[in-house]
Amino acid sequence: MLNALSRQADRYVVIGNPIAHSMSPFIHADFAAQLGLPLQYERVLAPLNGFRQTVAALQAAGVKGANVTVPFKLDAFSIASELPNTLSTAAMFAQAANTLKFNADGTVLADNTDGGGLCRDLVRQLKTLGLRLDQCQVLMVGAGGAASGCVAAFQAAGIQHLTVLNRTVSKARELAERAEAIDLPAAGGALDTPPSHFEIPGAPVLIVNASSSSLKGDMPVLHADWYARAVLVYDMMYAAKPTPFIRSLHHQDLACSDGLGMLVFQAQLAFEVWTGQSPDALETLTKVRQALLAKAKQQ
Ligand code: ATR
Repeated sequence: MLNALSRQADRYVVIGNPIAHSMSPFIHADFAAQLGLPLQYERVLAPLNGFRQTVAALQAAGVKGANVTVPFKLDAFSIASELPNTLSTAAMFAQAANTLKFNADGTVLADNTDGGGLCRDLVRQLKTLGLRLDQCQVLMVGAGGAASGCVAAFQAAGIQHLTVLNRTVSKARELAERAEAIDLPAAGGALDTPPSHFEIPGAPVLIVNASSSSLKGDMPVLHADWYARAVLVYDMMYAAKPTPFIRSLHHQDLACSDGLGMLVFQAQLAFEVWTGQSPDALETLTKVRQALLAKAKQQ
């Protein structure tokens, strides 16, 4: 009888630049261990102008799939859209892919599991508040790549309404129009727009920070009424300590979450795409949180 060790391990990778910080190998190793799958998962640092060659070499070496991170998600999408392939709805909406599956016949499946991962984490956290995601409306702050990666998943999850607020208002409006085009009721505006402009009265508000402002030490300043209506504030960023965005809300009595759950759930979705099996993401999330804290203590 074959056991996990005697079977040849399928190879998977995460490609980025930089990549040394990536927690994906830890996450996928834990998923594989849970399910007894002989899976090998490595970090690959691709040259900034060498993503295409890196993918070709990995495919030739028999690698079964790749996670793709900054700055290559748009390249991953464009590679897959040129080859015989299948593009998921989420990847097509975002024009970006974070998951590639290399099939034996040379075809490539490109998916974007970021938004689906976010929605799984939101569903889990809302459940503890006695709420469902499809009852809620979302205020999304930011209109860049991270934001557009989530819109198709919000539509699939059946949220009531999406408000996109962004420093550059034209980008917020454009993303809202694209959301409306896939039948997700949406509106876009400036960061200081009050909820009365766009909200669906009565639907619980989720605030999702998809902007990269705090990377630059800045904070999106929203109209205070949004916080008065919010049931959960979610920052897609994560760190051992509360993120700057969440820290800025410490004086308010609000349920807050960083994006570590999104990271683990997007990995769970990628793992499902590759293997057809679903590990327990919550079990892994607990370990990833501990590892993050331990790493921070060492620094
Ligand atoms: P990502 O892939 O992380 O989304 P991006 O596509 O460059 O990166 O988008 C960054 C987002 O964060 C944008 O919505 C950006 O606002 P602009 O469209 O106005 O550039 C937002 N952002 C970045 N720095 C910001 C800041 N200091 N204040 C507010 N929003 C900021």
